[in-house]
Amino acid sequence: MEKKKIAIIGAGNMGGAIVNGLLKSGFVAASDIYIADRKQSILDEFKEKGVNTFEQNNEAAKYADLIVLAVKPYHFKSVIHEIKPEINPGKMIISIVTGVTIKQIETEAGINIPVFRAMPNTAIALQESLTCISGNNGSEAHMNYVTELFDHLGKTLIIPEELMAAATVLSSCGIAFALRYIRAAMQGGIEMGFGAEMAQYITAQTVKGATELVLRTGHHPEREIDKVTTPRGVTITGLNEMEHKGFSSSLIRGLMVSYNKIDDKLQ
Ligand SMILES: NC(=O)c1ccc[n+]([C@@H]2O[C@H](COP(=O)([O-])OP(=O)(O)OC[C@H]3O[C@@H](n4cnc5c(N)ncnc54)[C@H](OP(=O)(O)O)[C@@H]3O)[C@@H](O)[C@H]2O)c1
Repeated sequence: MEKKKIAIIGAGNMGGAIVNGLLKSGFVAASDIYIADRKQSILDEFKEKGVNTFEQNNEAAKYADLIVLAVKPYHFKSVIHEIKPEINPGKMIISIVTGVTIKQIETEAGINIPVFRAMPNTAIALQESLTCISGNNGSEAHMNYVTELFDHLGKTLIIPEELMAAATVLSSCGIAFALRYIRAAMQGGIEMGFGAEMAQYITAQTVKGATELVLRTGHHPEREIDKVTTPRGVTITGLNEMEHKGFSSSLIRGLMVSYNKIDDKLQ
C-alpha cells in the first residue's frame, strides 16, 4: 500500500506517543502527519519536529488518508461529528478509543469505509506497546497497513473485536497492574535495606528478566517458578504466604472488575 498521510485527532498521552513513535521509526515523514488538539501548547512540541499541527480537528482530518482517533471516550461523539464532513470514501479510520465499537464508529461516521480499532498501551511511547487490532470493511492490504503501522510501535496481534475489552484490561490496564507490583516489591526492598533508587532498579530489571524468560522460551510461568522454588525453601515460603493472602485471586478479581467496567463489550 502506498504511503499515507496520517491525521491524529488528540495529542494527549497516546496520540502524542503514536506520533513520536512513528517519527522515531521512520514509518512516516513528519510532513505526512497532521495532528490536532484543542490546546495549542500541546502542539508546539510537534510543530518543532516538522509535523503539521491544527487546533481544529476537521482541518487535520481534511488532509489525511488515515484518521487516528485518540480522544477520551466521552469526547468521541462530538469529535467524530466535527470531522464527519472530511470523512469520505478512500479514507480509513483507526480508533484507539476505549469501549467504542466499530459499529458505533461506522454509525456516527455515516459512511462505509474501512474502520479499525487498535488497543495499544502506554509503552507505545518507547515503541514497546502490545497493540491488539480488529477491523471491518477493510481489505487485506488495509489490515496489513494498520498492522505494519503498529509493528513500528511495538508488537501487534489481530483479534476478533469481541475480545477488545479483554485486550484493554490485559494490555492497556495491564501496564498499571504490573507497575503496582513493581512499586509494592520496591517497598519491601526498602524495608529490607535498599535505597528507593536501587530497589526500583533491582525490581524493574528482575521483572524484565521474568518477562524475557516467558517470552523467549514460551514456557508457562509455573515452569520457570518451579526452577526457583526449592522444597522447604525461601521462595516457596514467600510465594505461598502471598497466595494465602490472595495474591492471584485479588489480581484476577481486579482484572474482572476492570473488564466489567467497560461498557461496550460485544458478546
Ligand atoms: N492511556 C492508555 O493506556 C490507553 C491505552 C489504549 C487506549 N487508550 C485510549 O486512548 C484515548 C486517548 O487516551 P489519552 O490517555 O491519550 O487521553 P488524553 O491524554 O486526554 O488525550 C486526548 C487529547 O485529545 C484532545 N482533544 C482534541 N480535540 C478534542 C475535542 N474536540 N474534545 C475533547 N478532547 C479533544 C484532548 O484535549 P483536552 O485535554 O483539552 O481534553 C487531549 O489532549 C482514550 O480513549 C483512551 O481510552 C488509552
